[in-house]
Amino acid sequence: MAEALPRAFVCGHPIAHSRSPLIHGYWLQHYGIEGTYERLDVPPEALEGFLRDMPGSAYVGGNVTIPHKENACRLVDHLDEAAHRIGAVNTLWMDGGRLHGGNTDAYGFAANLDAETPGWSQSGVATILGAGGAARAIVHALQERAFRQIRIVNRTSSRAQALAAHFRGAASAHAWDALPELLPETGLLINTTSLGMDGGPGLELDLSLLPSTVIVSDIVYAPLLTPLLAMARDRGLRTVDGLGMLLHQAVPGFEKWFGRRPEVTPELRALVIADL
Ligand code: ATR
Repeated sequence: MAEALPRAFVCGHPIAHSRSPLIHGYWLQHYGIEGTYERLDVPPEALEGFLRDMPGSAYVGGNVTIPHKENACRLVDHLDEAAHRIGAVNTLWMDGGRLHGGNTDAYGFAANLDAETPGWSQSGVATILGAGGAARAIVHALQERAFRQIRIVNRTSSRAQALAAHFRGAASAHAWDALPELLPETGLLINTTSLGMDGGPGLELDLSLLPSTVIVSDIVYAPLLTPLLAMARDRGLRTVDGLGMLLHQAVPGFEKWFGRRPEVTPELRALVIADL
């Protein structure tokens, strides 16, 4: 009997916006791997049944996206360390007949900075703007890289406090108006809020308060050059855009499902940029 082709998916609701099929489709074709990566619209009420049926299905694994990342945690047989710490799953795979859930967002964030700004973790002092799911993954990444200070700044201070509490003191919570005191010591500034996204309000910050050695990164990637990154570049600061995190977070999943560690290349980047 011929061996079945490996099939993977991204599931979410809605799912039309996901760029994961473009990324994994590119790698499948680039490496000549016979397999598929499918876009599946799974509404919240169907997630449990969908994941329960996965072991007997044709799928070797897949990605989980909004709004399922947190719920998937309690529906898998085994959580990896990152998913456990972050409290969200973005990657699924089968191993020994059990459904495993992992989180590659923190890996993607760090791998992108490793590629773009080697030595990025040396300053050891980070200021994160925002306290949502993306910020949670980034706090974990910074903790793994032994940052001495991880400061979370959020419009709604209770969410910043909840996030700091989640990491049991490894991070501190601050109000937006504390930024004038926080920016001068910041080695890495990360925007995880939706401010600066296409069509939305911008992010207003006095970048003159930052040291000249700072790295400014944004996880927003549409537009690629956000107002924050444009202002930072104008000041001659090092900047890292949000697209690289999206590309790098896809690497471990592809390797697990299709058996080959894929590369994040300029060609892949250009392909996704053309689709933004
Ligand atoms: P994600 O999971 O992608 O991180 P999220 O959980 O919706 O998304 O979080 C969005 C972040 O952007 C939050 O930190 C949010 O701040 P609040 O917690 O105060 O809502 C932040 N954000 C969104 N719009 C904002 C705005 N107009 N001004 C300041 N912060 C904003």
